[in-house]
Amino acid sequence: MSEEPTPLAGPDLSLGVAISQVPDAGMLLGHAGGEPVLLARRADEIFAISAVCTHYSGPLAEGLLVGDTVRCPWHHACFDLRTGEALRAPALSPVACWSTESRDGKVFVREKSLRPPRMPRRKPSGEAPERIVIVGGGAAGFAAAEKLRRVQYQGSVVMLSNDDAPPVDRPNLSKDYLAGKAPEDWLPLRPASFYAEQGIELRLKTDVTGIDVQSRVLTLADGGGRIPYDRLLLATGAEPVRLTIPGAGQSNVLTLRSLADCQHIIARAASARRAVVLGASFIGLEVAAALRTRDLDVHVVAPEKRPMERILGPQMGDLIRSIHQDHGVVFHLEDTATGIGGNRVTLKSGGTLEADLVVAGIGVRPRTELARMAGLRLDRGVVVDAYLETSAPGIFAAGDIARWPDPLSVENIRVEHWVVAEQQGQTAALNLLGHRQKHAAVPFFWSQHYDVPIHYVGHAEAWDELAIDGDVAAKDCLLRFKRKGRVLAVASISRDTESLKAEAAMEQEAGAIPTPAA
Ligand SMILES: Cc1cc2nc3c(=O)[nH]c(=O)nc-3n(C[C@H](O)[C@H](O)[C@H](O)COP(=O)(O)OP(=O)(O)OC[C@H]3O[C@@H](n4cnc5c(N)ncnc54)[C@H](O)[C@@H]3O)c2cc1C
Ligand code: FES
Repeated sequence: MSEEPTPLAGPDLSLGVAISQVPDAGMLLGHAGGEPVLLARRADEIFAISAVCTHYSGPLAEGLLVGDTVRCPWHHACFDLRTGEALRAPALSPVACWSTESRDGKVFVREKSLRPPRMPRRKPSGEAPERIVIVGGGAAGFAAAEKLRRVQYQGSVVMLSNDDAPPVDRPNLSKDYLAGKAPEDWLPLRPASFYAEQGIELRLKTDVTGIDVQSRVLTLADGGGRIPYDRLLLATGAEPVRLTIPGAGQSNVLTLRSLADCQHIIARAASARRAVVLGASFIGLEVAAALRTRDLDVHVVAPEKRPMERILGPQMGDLIRSIHQDHGVVFHLEDTATGIGGNRVTLKSGGTLEADLVVAGIGVRPRTELARMAGLRLDRGVVVDAYLETSAPGIFAAGDIARWPDPLSVENIRVEHWVVAEQQGQTAALNLLGHRQKHAAVPFFWSQHYDVPIHYVGHAEAWDELAIDGDVAAKDCLLRFKRKGRVLAVASISRDTESLKAEAAMEQEAGAIPTPAA
């Protein structure tokens, strides 16, 4: 998302390079017409596409070729080498393509195609629904609406969101935007005009309070009326767990989920000197980092011995703690807050901390209320099958609320990852149209702590072996979380290609093993 143009590197490909310079199944970075271009070769075929990822400008030349696709090293988006199409979130826009000419042992990059070919219209199997309604204007809801139009669905798409902002890049709310390093215009997933142009009826500040499964009608809050649907996607996400200790309702005690939450924290931080973050979750720690960038004194209070140990293991936990300590964060681990009075947080251990601002990052819970009232099957989330359909035919669920049969772990899992929510939204979109596409993508998330990004592929709720390559303290490592000898998840720092390779290997494995029953 950087506005800086990517510097040019490598040869001018319009002048031609020897074909032998592009290894089979390999890539060569160069430029043409003043733009970074990636040449990729598959046997006798050579492709030329933009070398810059459309998500956050990641360097595709440092990514991985998998079949006819290239994967971005930063957040694992995937682009079609033939068309430039963004095949996989978090990128939602295509990259440009160039034609090539091979002559006398050289390949020349020629014409740029400004717009990728339109995606072929996906014919629904069976009758196309006339009205698709999406509840939720977050990652999954947006990705579903966008995908419906990308595959040229012609029917009505209504997106209902009780947020007051159109879909935003939520991960940025605890990172650059909160730190004051990203302008607000980076946040919307699409400009305001997109929805009207695409015929997506986005209704903000619209709270859905009920689903009549029999008559296929939604009820809106405050007498807002009833909305009929033929097929429905529930993408209501998750909400922060609220503190229940005395003083939790004070105006200086905040949580972070929406753009409005983020703006409250920024407004408070402007006049604050000291902040206390409760919880050493990913979001809590990213908030701590952002507030340090804003020069606040930051204390983190959390019950665990090491931050993130349960998910990433003790070595990574120690590293994360030391990264934050090196940036001035003070930890109070194996401790909890028992009350907040004015600008003072009382700790269970007996001490008190001064705090002009308290941010509670103590976890989230899936918003399953609508699904529960509608009688859908629940199990710590909304239970869906491999096609993301709930127990009510015609109603799908995606994102933080969905518990789906994960073919890799052979367990029904629910995760709270941005990319997973978007990918599920895209898969659900096709299945809303009557396709039968399984959600078999390997879960991926990233988290950023100052200049240290952590990547995680797979899902390991529990593991019995942790194998470490490299040096965790040196921030150059790859950790494999195994159960009974099988790798369930891989976490890494500074090992982007290996992380992509691990993901590709898991994808293959996931395709080869049976799917559990939902
Ligand atoms: C600050 C922050 C930083 C994050 N950073 C990362 C990260 O770095 N990497 C990562 O992988 N993940 C990250 N996540 C997690 C990621 O954002 C979520 O997993 C993702 O947003 C889930 O998408 P979703 O569509 O399921 O829910 P959401 O994006 O939360 O969207 C849910 C939508 O449903 C609407 N809604 C809910 N109930 C109703 C109702 N009854 N009626 C109408 N509308 C309703 C809400 O207003 C919202 O628009 C972060 C989350 C937060 C909050
Ligand atoms: S920059 Fe490429 S996926 Fe994020």
